Amino acid sequence: MYMMTMLLRYSSFLIVFVFLQNISFSKALKSSFSVEMIHRDSPKSPFYRPTETHFQRVENAILRSIHRANYFKLDSNDVESTITPASGEYLLNYSVGTPPVQILGIIDTGSDIIWMQCQPCKECYKQDRPIFDPSTSRTYSTMPCVAADCLSGTHAFCNFNNGKHCAYEMSYIDGSTSEGDFSWETLSLYSSFKDVPVAFPQTVIGCGHNNVGIFSKQSSGIVGLGMGPFSLASQLKPKTGGTFSYCLTPMYQGDRKPSYLRFGDRGEVTVKEAVSTPLIRNIARPSVYYVVMEALSVGSKRIEFPRNGENGNILIDSGAALSYLPDEVYSSLEGEMVNEVKLPRTDSPIKGLRLCFAITPGEDYHIPLVYAHFKGGGTVTLYNVNTFVKVRETTICLAFRSGSEAILGNLAQQDILIGYDTQRNTVTFLNTDCTSEI
Ligand SMILES: *[C@@H]1O[C@H](CO)[C@@H](O)[C@H](O)[C@H]1NC(C)=O
Repeated sequence: MYMMTMLLRYSSFLIVFVFLQNISFSKALKSSFSVEMIHRDSPKSPFYRPTETHFQRVENAILRSIHRANYFKLDSNDVESTITPASGEYLLNYSVGTPPVQILGIIDTGSDIIWMQCQPCKECYKQDRPIFDPSTSRTYSTMPCVAADCLSGTHAFCNFNNGKHCAYEMSYIDGSTSEGDFSWETLSLYSSFKDVPVAFPQTVIGCGHNNVGIFSKQSSGIVGLGMGPFSLASQLKPKTGGTFSYCLTPMYQGDRKPSYLRFGDRGEVTVKEAVSTPLIRNIARPSVYYVVMEALSVGSKRIEFPRNGENGNILIDSGAALSYLPDEVYSSLEGEMVNEVKLPRTDSPIKGLRLCFAITPGEDYHIPLVYAHFKGGGTVTLYNVNTFVKVRETTICLAFRSGSEAILGNLAQQDILIGYDTQRNTVTFLNTDCTSEI
């Protein structure tokens, strides 16, 4: 009898124990971490030029985003790989291989492959840091053509010439291209709050032997964060559950604080006040994150977006400063601002911005709040920091332009926590002081 009780006790203890272990096991399985998004104009970035003035940086960011948007407007059917231009405003510091080699890649929310320049180079652009040499890595493996990853990949194909293994080719809308081996390698991210790098073995990477275009020597390639299966976000999905978020700190105001990209539980935006809207997969541009913005409102005026069925009508782009609105939406917004802002108009010192006001340094001024109404009923507030950009000590300009395609640029995303959930297909917005987020 005693034995029996013991056994029962013991087994129920075992059951509880196994049960508890399962819980902690599944928790441990879900990776959760933050990595810094290095703004290209921050002193940590190799793009940083100490001789540039603050307003030169602002101007360059505006010009880069106009340039980028011009490419976006190309008919995507003309280009085989419908990808964003090979530029961006944020960098990711990560490493590949064993022993690890540090890579600084440009974060691109609109493209799908993680690639870096690789030895031996057939044609590489000049790069400041050493170029990754896979022959020195113990964890690098080429991918056979019959591998599921090779057969399924939109950018992958079989290279019969060179030992019959998987290859990739990326063409960006600006004409830049990268070609090389599609391979598996350990990729490690430097978590902002963990001492050890977070390693992801067997990550599909593009090892680029032939890279031409407008890439610059400060960076080693692109980190696609888009919706396709081989983007960083998608490849981490089994570990992170498909949630990630970022919160962009104001980039051109006072002391810039770092912005973070967060994955897993940390990337989930679960606060009740957060506004959730469907994430739309756009067949014409499958890499890009689209949502539906139903209207903007300023004061009592509501400006409706044109309806376009089930497709998304605005794409979220972290790689450009300015936002773009459909012509009629832009005109109404501009008109409302002219009515509401009690400041003298002035000409824009930068080509491409249409509505500017003169301000007196040190004096307060009032800019009306703009509300962005997303499908699903939620409203996000766009403050002064989102709608206007200070381009000179005495001039502020509307940080929007009109275009055939609506783009939510990174100025409009400042101080908004934006969460992506590719499992539930939602994008979540929450007005947040991003400097307090890590
Ligand atoms: C990248 O991360 C490594 C390791 O944490 C660090 O030593 C290096 O300074 C970082 N580089 C940049 C540009 O932040």
